[in-house]
Amino acid sequence: MAIPLPGTPIIIDLGSAYVKVGFAGDPTPRFVFPTMIGTERYKAIMVDVGARNLYVGNDAMKMRGVLKVSYPIERGVIKDWEGYYEILNYLFYSLLRIEDLSQYPVVYTESLFVQPDIKEYIARVLFETHGVKSLIFVPTPFLSLFSVGLTTGLVIESGDGTTWIVPIINGKIVQEAVQRLNLAGMDVNNNLKSLLMREGISISSSAVDEIIKEIKEKNCYFVLDPSKPPRTDDDYIYRLPDGSNLSIPSHIIYEAPEVLFQPSMLGYNIQNLPQATISSLKSIDKKYWEELLSHIVLSGGNIQYSGFEERFKLEISNLLPQLGPIPSKKLKSRGTKLTTEIKKEIKNLQNVEFVKKKKKDNCPHCGAFLDVSEDLEFCPECKGRLKLPKIPIELNKKKPQETNETTPIVCPHCNKEIKDSSSTFCPYCGQKLKSDEEMGIKLAEEFHDYIDPTEVFIKYFVPDNPQYAIFTGASILASLPSFQSLFITYQQFQENPNVLYIDFSEIL
Ligand SMILES: Nc1ncnc2c1ncn2[C@@H]1O[C@H](COP(=O)(O)OP(=O)(O)OP(=O)(O)O)[C@@H](O)[C@H]1O
Ligand SMILES: [Mg+2]
Repeated sequence: MAIPLPGTPIIIDLGSAYVKVGFAGDPTPRFVFPTMIGTERYKAIMVDVGARNLYVGNDAMKMRGVLKVSYPIERGVIKDWEGYYEILNYLFYSLLRIEDLSQYPVVYTESLFVQPDIKEYIARVLFETHGVKSLIFVPTPFLSLFSVGLTTGLVIESGDGTTWIVPIINGKIVQEAVQRLNLAGMDVNNNLKSLLMREGISISSSAVDEIIKEIKEKNCYFVLDPSKPPRTDDDYIYRLPDGSNLSIPSHIIYEAPEVLFQPSMLGYNIQNLPQATISSLKSIDKKYWEELLSHIVLSGGNIQYSGFEERFKLEISNLLPQLGPIPSKKLKSRGTKLTTEIKKEIKNLQNVEFVKKKKKDNCPHCGAFLDVSEDLEFCPECKGRLKLPKIPIELNKKKPQETNETTPIVCPHCNKEIKDSSSTFCPYCGQKLKSDEEMGIKLAEEFHDYIDPTEVFIKYFVPDNPQYAIFTGASILASLPSFQSLFITYQQFQENPNVLYIDFSEIL
């Protein structure tokens, strides 16, 4: 594939399991390779490989039987800097094969909350070691959101090492509500391995991890209700590289990914994905809940199991009552509708002799046929609210006393005598003289139209290829001329490293 013209941004998404790399304008990454380094294990058998004693990515994967393999990025954090440098060398010079990097800007996708010194160090490596033209760091949740064309949404990004739950409102990340879980694809691999072991199945191959991963990616799925598992007794047969067959009990295939909903399966005492999502929402103003729940963006390789969306929705729906009533814009319009209905009712009552009151009607939520003479507040079928909560309006309330009242009163705070007993505040000390109730004031409660949590409309936005959503988002963004003006040059970085920190809400 031809190298794009100089000036075309290179996109780098360095994940814990896979590196995704390509150019702006590419719909998917040009190269995807495992974030893996291999070094010689047995020097004696590597005689014909010349001076090479280090393998990266797919090369390391092919040779893994005779290599000591390691993963430089663990749960999103660079743990082995030597390995990290090798990965950059490999992607720039072996895969992209760009001779003069000084012609190419780089979009580097970054996790949230990367320490500033690490970020600046990466910038130095890219500028000083590789001499890239210019650079921009973009937090991955923005890119996931952008990949589906949204600027507000609840991003659930689950890769190999970490799952992030990131609410973004009008292009701004709600930092205090972000949840990070060390629970993702690698934990499903580990769970699958441990379930197989418990069944007495052990895979004796140098590629055991790859085999486990392949079994998982091709076969694992979610059941809606793990307490009512499907009735399939057929074992799943996997053909091993040596030609022999591995017979796996079918229940293992749907039990392995369960760890995402039951982390205790691996002994983890942490929240599961839906619980962390609810925790995230609890940290955000409730007025955004409905909007976020109806814009859930699923991204990352680890959400690609069949049945994941349905199961996640069910689990979230079960936890939603923890949030209490949810303010709803949708209901506001329903509220208007109800007022018109009430008006109609009044009219009906005025003409009571001529018009018979409606006895049956359809539920506005689920369409069920209801007996409205029973004065139902909620639909018995779907539990949707049929009436707005009653707001008491006291019409015959006594008027406040006239201001020419003569009986003096004594201020309870400063003990001074006040002639005008209708005063709300003491004219001497400024304190309140009467309680709200005494003054006949009912404090206005913040009023929203609320919906029952069971009514909440959960809607997903899932990119075509969730594993490449971050790349795709970056590819679209970096193709925009307005975005290209935001890249930082080495000179700008040297003058002020703070230029690396950009407020993306202004772009989105
Ligand atoms: N079809 C599939 N079904 C289930 N899991 C899958 C599927 N395809 C890929 N995965 C898993 O997705 C994970 C890789 O996803 P991704 O590339 O988004 O992670 P990453 O970017 O390397 O990791 P992280 O973002 O956590 O650092 C791996 O655990 C992989 O096994
Ligand atoms: Mg990732």
